[in-house]
Amino acid sequence: MDFAERKNVRTIAIASGKGGVGKTNITANLAIALSRLNKKVMILDADLGLSNIDVVLNIATKYNIDHLLSGEKQLEDLIVDGPQGIKILPASSGIQELTSLDEFQRLRLIEEIDSYNESIDYLLIDTSSGISENVSFFCMAAQEIMVITSAEPTAMTDAYALIKVLFTKYQEKNFRILVNNVKDSHEATDVYERLSTAADRFLSISLDYVGFVPRDDYVPKAVRQQRALIDMYPGSDAAIKIMEIAGEISKETNNNLKGTLQFFLGGLVKEKC
Ligand SMILES: Nc1ncnc2c1ncn2[C@@H]1O[C@H](COP(=O)(O)OP(=O)(O)OP(=O)(O)O)[C@@H](O)[C@H]1O
Ligand SMILES: [Mg+2]
Repeated sequence: MDFAERKNVRTIAIASGKGGVGKTNITANLAIALSRLNKKVMILDADLGLSNIDVVLNIATKYNIDHLLSGEKQLEDLIVDGPQGIKILPASSGIQELTSLDEFQRLRLIEEIDSYNESIDYLLIDTSSGISENVSFFCMAAQEIMVITSAEPTAMTDAYALIKVLFTKYQEKNFRILVNNVKDSHEATDVYERLSTAADRFLSISLDYVGFVPRDDYVPKAVRQQRALIDMYPGSDAAIKIMEIAGEISKETNNNLKGTLQFFLGGLVKEKC
């Protein structure tokens, strides 16, 4: 496959600050939704201490990033197939050392992922909660950062704190906001406007609104069944919204190249590989 085909991979980090606001569910379902739109998608489960993409989708994983970084396994050995042809690069659960990667491990990970030679259109990165070095690293290594928040004041405060840390430490100015688990579009835009006003006033940055996913009992139901919501309950309100958001995302092009160390799949390949 040639360079031109591979350099358009869009890398999106999904982050939140606060835990449990819906990152993993949105990542998994957005990946499947994009795949339904004929996009090739890979999920990087970057919740390195407590992975759960595999649990949400009931996927058995044999090896994980730990095996890759230790040199025991190759990237290809790790990747597993998920629903609708999506690929999943699993993290590990409960391996303490991976909750904080050192500089060398980060470089290795970027290098390994960059050398992946299957063509993909999207790399979605499901990050862990908190504002750890790892979370910042994955956000800065991605072209786009999608911040998930609910309407809870704690979720909003943590979303703002994440934005503030990435701005003050890395001068990041581009953030997209997805409001999850809200009653309706009014509640969602209210959350977005409040976040956006704070970011504008105190950091002088403007936030981009992606959309919202409503509170929907089918979400926890699908989680309990360990199946993707949009496969199990495609007619549910939340699934419909996720499909809509995927539709919007698939129409955009984004080549937001940053000054920092970034995932750039295929970027090192000059001609044919
Ligand atoms: N739109 C929604 N409607 C109803 N419940 C939801 C919705 N989104 C998420 N939830 C509930 O919140 C739970 C946590 O979601 P999820 O695991 O995706 O969050 P997370 O941000 O990845 O958490 P963590 O920070 O622990 O990784 C889900 O299991 C589900 O029960
Ligand atoms: Mg999660």
